Amino acid sequence: MKILSIETSCDETSIASVEASGGIRAPRFKVLQNIVSSQIALHAPFGGVVPNIAKREHLKNLPIIFRQIFVNPKSKILNPKQTQNTEYKILSTKVDVVAVTVGPGLEPALWTGVNFAKEIHKNHFPKAKLIGVNHMEGHLYSFLLPQKTQFPISNSQFSKTKIFPAVGLVVSGGHTILLLMKSLTEWKKLGETRDDAVGEAFDKVARMLGLPYPGGPEIQRAAAPGDPSSVNFPRPMMKDKNYDFSFSGLKTSVLYYIRDHKEQSKNKNFIEDVAASFQAAAVETLVYKTARAVQEFKAKSIILAGGVAANQSLRETLVKTSKELGVHFFAPPMAYNTDNAAMIAAAAYIQTLKKKNRRITAQANLNL
Ligand code: KG4
Ligand code: ZN
Repeated sequence: MKILSIETSCDETSIASVEASGGIRAPRFKVLQNIVSSQIALHAPFGGVVPNIAKREHLKNLPIIFRQIFVNPKSKILNPKQTQNTEYKILSTKVDVVAVTVGPGLEPALWTGVNFAKEIHKNHFPKAKLIGVNHMEGHLYSFLLPQKTQFPISNSQFSKTKIFPAVGLVVSGGHTILLLMKSLTEWKKLGETRDDAVGEAFDKVARMLGLPYPGGPEIQRAAAPGDPSSVNFPRPMMKDKNYDFSFSGLKTSVLYYIRDHKEQSKNKNFIEDVAASFQAAAVETLVYKTARAVQEFKAKSIILAGGVAANQSLRETLVKTSKELGVHFFAPPMAYNTDNAAMIAAAAYIQTLKKKNRRITAQANLNL
């Protein structure tokens, strides 16, 4: 099944063309194209994503990326002036599913993708099925996408390996969720954040330290030479019996620590040590509850997903913990951690197999 997928929920404009097969027991994907146009540089001066700039950029980039994939795949860069008003012929017309992210995300940004999907469906692929996809399901299924390294079992072995029940840890700029998964399509939410998402905490702490947006990769870079035990930041709710998280208190502790050490705060070592200590507190909190859930529910694997899954320290700690617990560990390939359309195609395939329908309209607060 050939899937054309579109992602515009936040600050990445992305279109992918993905070949899916294998069915629900052994899903396999071949990513033919996955173009991601990042708007990070445009939002960075504002310290976060500006919805109207995101909308404007999606509107500009969607037709350019679409033509790059379906009209002129060989040309690396298309000049928007050349392509905007030119008549063009679609190279490949065999598309079975047109899939688009309908939520959660920024409403103006989501609408650009939804409207574009409707338009290309009508004009170019009227026989294809048009389906709306939950962005968080995209993240959750991104571990199924093909990868060259860091994967404990290959996709072809997927069906033979007992991975369920699994504990899913979904960590992004807007979500921090712990799931108990009975299968690829049946799960129960064990807990979630009561305040800030963990990615949001990385972004805010980076800002406090004078590091640019998005903060996650910046904190990771600054933390590498730092001493994670130099500041003993709190691990809020870590020892509580429930599976919820809270990152707002940790963030505030970092704020007070910086305020109380104004003299040193411009110092490179200070930034590195605070970044490393904050990262250690965030990672330990996430891993502690994930491990407890694995033990309580006798899970066979841990599935990590979302933009924060790119964090090296989180990945390494979960790999180590999985080994200690004797369970499998799955995480997306590095290219598919942060927002991209290939993961939307993966979720679209699973959704199609389950014959699940969703309204093709922007749903900013859609739940997992
Ligand atoms: O999934 P995503 O691309 O967008 C949302 O759906 O939110 O996640 C973006 C989040 C941002 O908060 C970003 O700072 C964080 O993921 N992130 C990281 C890393 N790379 C991205 N956080 C920690 N370490 C990283 N290496
Ligand atoms: Zn995302």
